[in-house]
Amino acid sequence: MLQRVFERKEWKFFAALPKAAPGLALAWWLALLLRGALPAAFAIAMGVLVGAVHRGDPLAGPFLLVGAIFILLQVLNPIHQALSANLGDRTAAWLYDRLTEACVRPPGMGHLEDPKLTNDLTVARDFDLGMTGPPLAISMDFIASGMVEIVGGIACAVILFRYAWWAPILLAGAWAATHWLLRESAIWRDRNTEEVRGAQRDADYAYRLAVDPPASKELRLFGLVGWTIDRFVARRTRLHELQYAATRLREKPLIWSLLLVVGANIAVFWALASGAANGKISLGAAVAYMQSAVGVSMIAFGGFSWALDGAAAPVAAVLRLEPAMRPAGALHSGNRPVSTKRAHEIRLRDVTFAYPTGPGAPVLEHFDLTIPAGSSLAIVGQNGAGKTTIAKLLCRLYDPQSGGIEIDGADLREFDLAAWRSRIAAVFQDFIRLELPLRENVAPAGAPDDVVRAALESAGAANLASLDTILSRAYDDGTDLSGGQWQRVALARALSAVKMGAGLVLLDEPTAQLDVRGEAEIFDRLLSATRHCTTILISHRFSTVRHADRICVLEHGRVIELGTHAELVAHGGRYRTMFDLQAERFIVPEDDEGKTYDVLS
Ligand SMILES: Nc1ncnc2c1ncn2[C@@H]1O[C@H](COP(=O)(O)OP(=O)(O)OP(=O)(O)O)[C@@H](O)[C@H]1O
Ligand SMILES: [Mg+2]
Repeated sequence: MLQRVFERKEWKFFAALPKAAPGLALAWWLALLLRGALPAAFAIAMGVLVGAVHRGDPLAGPFLLVGAIFILLQVLNPIHQALSANLGDRTAAWLYDRLTEACVRPPGMGHLEDPKLTNDLTVARDFDLGMTGPPLAISMDFIASGMVEIVGGIACAVILFRYAWWAPILLAGAWAATHWLLRESAIWRDRNTEEVRGAQRDADYAYRLAVDPPASKELRLFGLVGWTIDRFVARRTRLHELQYAATRLREKPLIWSLLLVVGANIAVFWALASGAANGKISLGAAVAYMQSAVGVSMIAFGGFSWALDGAAAPVAAVLRLEPAMRPAGALHSGNRPVSTKRAHEIRLRDVTFAYPTGPGAPVLEHFDLTIPAGSSLAIVGQNGAGKTTIAKLLCRLYDPQSGGIEIDGADLREFDLAAWRSRIAAVFQDFIRLELPLRENVAPAGAPDDVVRAALESAGAANLASLDTILSRAYDDGTDLSGGQWQRVALARALSAVKMGAGLVLLDEPTAQLDVRGEAEIFDRLLSATRHCTTILISHRFSTVRHADRICVLEHGRVIELGTHAELVAHGGRYRTMFDLQAERFIVPEDDEGKTYDVLS
């Protein structure tokens, strides 16, 4: 029973408040209880005043009491409002902190790719932006007002006990029944179903498509503006329909509620009126009781439930995500230190790996490959062959299901995870573009300025911008770069990491966006800068690939050819076919400056 209460999202919501801001939460509760008690106190004070008038007693005391309570009623309201707004903000900030931690902390990536978690993530991610409900700073005030009324109604009912035991039970029962009878008119009982979360995810995606700049080119070019608007409206309408379906008033219980409430009130007021008329209760007491009887109506169903429900759902989603993400993104770190020597021999031994969230078929199956220390290996293969997957496994973003990766003969899982990653210089296919100064883009973990400058120089990006320029148009002095310029920055990042001691270099399509001249030039510099490292180069460009010590052709997660460029060309297999195909299209003997690009020679 208690367990079930603790599991309710409302409980989780109230339990979150003191964790987010203990002092504020205490003040909020105190103000709430005080505000709740005041209507009952006011009823008593009015009874005292009327009694004094009736008996001809001095009125100064009773007037003072009524005045004091009245002023408190007025003053506490705005104070409580301010407390609610602050507590709401602090709670939202606390939840965002927890969510950020839950997303970033796990060493693996599974928790961000699990579709079961992404729905909750959609609910939790933007919960305080006011897109699906009011932000917490506002709904806290609704919740406060609703609870003040309930506490006030109960306090008034308690006073009625002095009159007759049955009166408060009858009245409070009737008013409380409205909560139960009308409950479905307010509780968004379906909010946490997969259907609602899915609808929210769809609406969210359609919205982002419309407002995020990256999609704007294609939307216009392909004439998708109308389609995007229709899609957003349709998804949003669907979400609202689902909400509406759960919040419709049901007519029959409404009539029952009315009958119950009217009946109970007639009984109590009739008894009070006749008691006062035949002198069984004094006029002062009758006034206090009648006012209390009116006050009990505050128990009635108001906007409280929906405000609480709307606020509690994202809190519950965040708190659900936390424990779910930890194991989903967990990777056990060993404690073996990583040697400081530059080049390591890397061996993938009988590796079988399938993405935890993928269709199930392994991307790599019984995969074997050895990369001698200090050598460079190029991996070529069709889209989806598993090239990037190998790079991710080497970074230990995932662990293979069977087999293992050995670094100088020791299993990768035995090494200290953070130490291993700090020894990798990687340019991913979808590398990060940080909205930060150029300096931080080249050396996010920090490096001396001359290292940063040298790296930019080697990557052919010496004159892009000053080191302090923020690489985003969203900032005043910021700038944005072209695709190829960004790629040079990413290469500079890898070069700077090599300079700072990284020994394994992973380059996934590092030159895909570079112009032909830039590619040849930069690649030479890249190879000389990483000569003492173990380098893995993934590329579809054979003009780049051929410079590697050895080349491996990957197909459906298996190595089908392995050798030097000359060996593979001589072998006349898959590599030769692909190379010839590309070379034919790339023969550009001379450009307008009379320079030749000799891809074949
Ligand atoms: N995060 C992921 N979750 C599930 N499946 C994935 C994930 N990333 C890749 N895959 C699947 O794994 C397979 C191999 O993908 P990978 O990215 O390694 O290919 P690739 O050889 O790098 O291709 P490309 O040349 O297009 O970059 C593909 O079938 C892909 O759909
Ligand atoms: Mg890839």
